[in-house]
Amino acid sequence: DWNMPDYITEAVEKIRAQVGDEEVILGLSGGVDSSVAAALIHRAIGDQLICVFVDNGLLRLNEGAQVMETFGQNMRMKIVHVDAGDEFLKHLTGVSDPEQKRKIIGREFVEVFQRESAKLKSAKWLAQGTIYPDVIESAGAKTKKAHTIKSHHNVGGLPDTMHLKLLEPLRELFKDEVRELGVALGLPSDMVYRHPFPGPGLGVRILGEVKREYAELLRRADAIFIEELRNTRDVSGKTWYELTSQAFTVFLPVKSVGVMGDGRTYEWVVSLRAVVTSDFMTAHWAHLPYELLGKVSNRIINEVRGINRVVYDISGKPPATIEWE
Ligand code: XMP
Repeated sequence: DWNMPDYITEAVEKIRAQVGDEEVILGLSGGVDSSVAAALIHRAIGDQLICVFVDNGLLRLNEGAQVMETFGQNMRMKIVHVDAGDEFLKHLTGVSDPEQKRKIIGREFVEVFQRESAKLKSAKWLAQGTIYPDVIESAGAKTKKAHTIKSHHNVGGLPDTMHLKLLEPLRELFKDEVRELGVALGLPSDMVYRHPFPGPGLGVRILGEVKREYAELLRRADAIFIEELRNTRDVSGKTWYELTSQAFTVFLPVKSVGVMGDGRTYEWVVSLRAVVTSDFMTAHWAHLPYELLGKVSNRIINEVRGINRVVYDISGKPPATIEWE
């Protein structure tokens, strides 16, 4: 058992002793780990921390604005907002293989991040939101040749060619502890208790080639699904967002026929995916209420012109994976 105020005091002192009056760069993704790391380091050294937020064009609806509001306006952190969507999309043109897409998105992130960091010449430190399970995992990957089904590209994976000293204040913490710390540091609990979101973002939720049009439709459809999950409760009083471990929408680059008024439509299909799992290694599809599924489907079809069919994914992991790519 740990005492949070004491823990924060100690962690803050440790960071101050480590970095002194030097500047620190941190790649802020909006995910739990980098957000909590940013909040903790900011508590310790204030404006000596400079966050770099790379918008890869594959984020969810309003995500960039939310990150800027939470960290920039509310917490008053220094943040460089890099709008790199066009660049990412350009490199993804014509690419449909999932692993290839992951590689490109990962490589592009490093490229953009390094370019932006190079402009911050006085910085001596690179902070990362590495947590204890990441430490274990990468130790394991070094000893045994990692058997990878999917290469998981994440914001953490930066090469050590940046000649910066590493600052990893969450290295000893488990995910639950990171979340508790985040709340204690004043991060919104919506952010701290969010479902995981993959590093390649919507890039692996748009099947095959990623196109701007697809990303825009998917973002709107997914926002509706998530909103309804957050607003609908089961008998226990919990929301369906809380009752599921991960939920999202997948864009299928397939057109199907529909009717609207007197007319025939020929538009895109999306699939809803919601799973319950304790470790993400295996997962069950979530038994969402039919009323909820029906409402989400109606709203997506009525509100997102360009999508005329919504399906629900009822595959377990294994044999399916949680993501579709
Ligand atoms: P799968 O689809 O393999 O996903 O059942 C298991 C968990 O990992 C997440 N995932 C990723 N996370 N980069 C990430 O940071 C990736 O490339 C990636 N691929 C899958 C997925 O969202 C789920 O939580």
